[in-house]
Amino acid sequence: MKILNSIAALRAQISAWRQNGERIAFVPTMGNLHNGHLKLVDVAKSHADRVIVSIFVNPMQFGKNEDLDSYPRTLEADCAGLTAHGADAVFTPTPDMMYPRGLDVQTFVEVPLLGDLHCGASRAGHFRGVSTIVCKLFNLVQPDIACFGQKDYQQLAIIRQMVTDLSLPIDIIGVATERAANGLALSSRNGYLTPEQLATAPQLYQVLQQLRAQILAGNHDYRSLELQTKQQLTAAGFTPDYIDISDQTDLTLATDAQQPKVILAAAWLGSTRLIDNLEV
Ligand code: PAF
Repeated sequence: MKILNSIAALRAQISAWRQNGERIAFVPTMGNLHNGHLKLVDVAKSHADRVIVSIFVNPMQFGKNEDLDSYPRTLEADCAGLTAHGADAVFTPTPDMMYPRGLDVQTFVEVPLLGDLHCGASRAGHFRGVSTIVCKLFNLVQPDIACFGQKDYQQLAIIRQMVTDLSLPIDIIGVATERAANGLALSSRNGYLTPEQLATAPQLYQVLQQLRAQILAGNHDYRSLELQTKQQLTAAGFTPDYIDISDQTDLTLATDAQQPKVILAAAWLGSTRLIDNLEV
């Protein structure tokens, strides 16, 4: 697997593949790769001749008091995993390469409405940072397809909207969340959890499953269900941020029983914020 640590090296590699008429799949990541990321690589491989992964801990999507500095950086292990899964190249830019003029004066991409809800309401500027870096990476890599995990459900919806709104010629593929045997969604941030918190964490998915069962059983009092689920999480030791029963189409709070729904959730365990979701 090639390690491309400059924009020039990336462009040269992409243009060589293009000259051969090869189809390119892209998997953007922030590194500290787990099986969820490696599954994205497997899916990407099944759709294209070449798979390129980016590893970039994007400062623009972290709030001032968030974990940018402590975010795990594990390049060597990441490259071993990517090689084992047959990735062709990894692009590893630095913040200076991606934001040479600094974050304060960086042109940005923002997806209105979708970006303001749920995680967008709790993490000001987060989705602006995500859509800006993904747009930049798309322009650099110019892939035919790109794969994103469904664990970040709102992020995936925002990327799809950005690609539509900006007419980017890229197919976006959502890949099902990888879970531990106990149901906990795989996430780089799980590494922050203490053994005790790791034992509690799977309850987030369990309460989502219970909530889904109640909705399917015909309980349409969504706001009461959300409140009740938050209370359950609090009793289990979480500090819930939001539990939102939402319409799948625009992620606004669900009111109509006929529309396909998704439950979106974020909750803190100590100083670690976990997210998960479940389609109904
Ligand atoms: O999901 C992530 O890891 C990041 O938000 C992404 C899409 C790589 C952008 O930095």
